[in-house]
Amino acid sequence: MMANIEIASENIKHDNIQPVKPRILLAVSGSVAAIKFEILCRSFLEWAEVRAVATKSSLHFLDKASFPRDVILYTDDDEWSSWKKIGDGVLHIELRKWADIMVIAPLSANTLAKIAGGLCDNLLTCIVRAWDYSKPIFVAPAMNTFMWNNPFTKRHLDAINELGVNLIPPVTKRLACGDYGNGAMAEPSVIYSTATCTFFRKPSNFTPDVQLSITELAALDMCQERAIFKPMNSEEKELLKQRCGGSWKLVLRYILAGEICCRREKSQAIAGPSHSVAVTSSGSVYSFGSNSSGQLGHGTLEEEWRPRLIRSLQGIRIIQAAAGARRTMLISDAGQVYAFGKESFGEAEHTTEGSNVVTTPQLVKSLKGIYVVQAAIGNFFSAVLSREGRVYTFCWGNDSKLGHRTEPNDLEPHPLLGPLENIPVVQIAAGYCYLLALACQPSGMSVYSVGCGLGGKLGHGSMADEKYPRLIEQFQTLNLQPRVVAAGAWHAAVVGQDGRACTWGWGRYGCLGHGTEESESVPRVVESLGNMKAVHVATGDYTTFVVSDTGDVYSFGYGESSSLGHSSVIDGQGNRNANVLSPKLVTSLKKINERVVQISLTNSVYWNAHTFALTDSDKLYAFGSGDKGQLGAELPAQQTERAMPEQVDINLS
Ligand SMILES: Cc1cc2nc3c(=O)[nH]c(=O)nc-3n(C[C@H](O)[C@H](O)[C@H](O)COP(=O)(O)O)c2cc1C
Repeated sequence: MMANIEIASENIKHDNIQPVKPRILLAVSGSVAAIKFEILCRSFLEWAEVRAVATKSSLHFLDKASFPRDVILYTDDDEWSSWKKIGDGVLHIELRKWADIMVIAPLSANTLAKIAGGLCDNLLTCIVRAWDYSKPIFVAPAMNTFMWNNPFTKRHLDAINELGVNLIPPVTKRLACGDYGNGAMAEPSVIYSTATCTFFRKPSNFTPDVQLSITELAALDMCQERAIFKPMNSEEKELLKQRCGGSWKLVLRYILAGEICCRREKSQAIAGPSHSVAVTSSGSVYSFGSNSSGQLGHGTLEEEWRPRLIRSLQGIRIIQAAAGARRTMLISDAGQVYAFGKESFGEAEHTTEGSNVVTTPQLVKSLKGIYVVQAAIGNFFSAVLSREGRVYTFCWGNDSKLGHRTEPNDLEPHPLLGPLENIPVVQIAAGYCYLLALACQPSGMSVYSVGCGLGGKLGHGSMADEKYPRLIEQFQTLNLQPRVVAAGAWHAAVVGQDGRACTWGWGRYGCLGHGTEESESVPRVVESLGNMKAVHVATGDYTTFVVSDTGDVYSFGYGESSSLGHSSVIDGQGNRNANVLSPKLVTSLKKINERVVQISLTNSVYWNAHTFALTDSDKLYAFGSGDKGQLGAELPAQQTERAMPEQVDINLS
């Protein structure tokens, strides 16, 4: 039977997208038993995301008509068709990284010999040669009895056993060729159960609950691996499950949705108003730029022109940072919040001007008992998100705005009342006197907004303020599942799971990207980005950045201070940097030949804005205003800004 299978050469490098199921790579080599490969693929689909790799010989035994549609099949040709130039992903390495577990069934005598000898002359053997043996790998040999009994077989099996490959032994029966004896591949059901049981025993060591379906078990197993779930006790886990809608699959979806938005436990860089904060992937924090209120956290009030490590945080792993007007907030992996800078929480010092400053990170004691996973600093208020998805706000939110009773400089957090009390929130974003919350319900993702409605930035079709969080209904009309939200000072943006980007609010300087300066009081899709898949969005005072799944960066809006990253041009009115009314590719970032995964830009009604672009190899590029050292570098004399991205001298790995 000649195989006629459509081969997928889709780029599998989606670093921003977290797995929702364990990922299994099934491989097939040239044995008659390959006709059972399709059954194996189907059985693993029950709990895993499945991708398949076939050798050239095995294609003689595979049948397109019965092959599962949701399994991508790769062959040797894909190695080369997916690689065009230096910098492109190499398929066998990408698949090796992608997979949590690998099963080769059937394993031919030829492929067995090659693996044992370390040969790698096709896609399958290259993956095995590069395999990370801390991840499980199984083989189910299938061959004629004469081959099986050949002394080479034992030698080769010993060699692969030494490597850490798990054997699912063949069985004795009448073989396809008519001979009787050992060498037939184990039944697919045995291969399936052996691999499944080992996989679930290995990562988390929990006792399987017979009440749970296999998919629920898989989801719970994945949850156990996540940083915010691990430290919970059983009662807290059960409460989270109820809050998410009653299943572990929903809990997993909730946790993963949050990880996508916040780069939790990954490197990140935050461009505040004239100061900057960078967190390394191991949780150290560097700060630089303006320090007039101690917002750099070094115990001083002096500017820093180079990234400087905050030494007092030694031993504390920081997983998230927020920077606002003269203040900084940091979140630790233990759910604690540290704040410093102007009118911060904790013991304040009085400067000569009489304002309250805190110059070293202070634990926000009033949040005791709340395990915080994200903080957002808006104008006149701050907000934090707990790991259960509850939102608390501090300061400012008087009765007509954020719907609760806080006073300016109130040290007590107030839970956000209204509909979000019972709906888990995965991400918060704060702008000028308003807050956006991305919520995760069994029915899907949604966005709520609360606070000041000026400019239409709450997205409800009016300029009215909202006292309690209110659902933005337009996403249902657009049939768009929000994935990430961004709150600029006066406008907001969302990226949907299908890759569409939406903007709304005050359209001044073209920051909505619709080709005009018109405002929009409900979310509107940015049509001119229709040919790319957006995965990330960042908003500033009147600026917006959208990042595509291939790492291309588009920016639009206010052109002064070079924070859009386009080369400096003087427009018809003599302005130095023209405003950009429609999304424009940031070619200067394209030239660095790195994949951009995060953009952060100044967002607090502060005109001298700067921008950070972080790449998947943890390199940080900065451009825009640098008058206070916020770019992490000294600028030449008389120069206050830099139009082209330059790498910041900092190691974020
Ligand atoms: C009809 C047919 C059936 C075969 N069945 C097997 C088999 O069950 N096991 C095996 O090891 N080789 C078998 N072979 C030989 C392999 O296909 C051959 O060694 C091939 O080079 C394997 O390539 P691969 O390991 O790259 O898939 C068979 C060959 C043919 C023509």
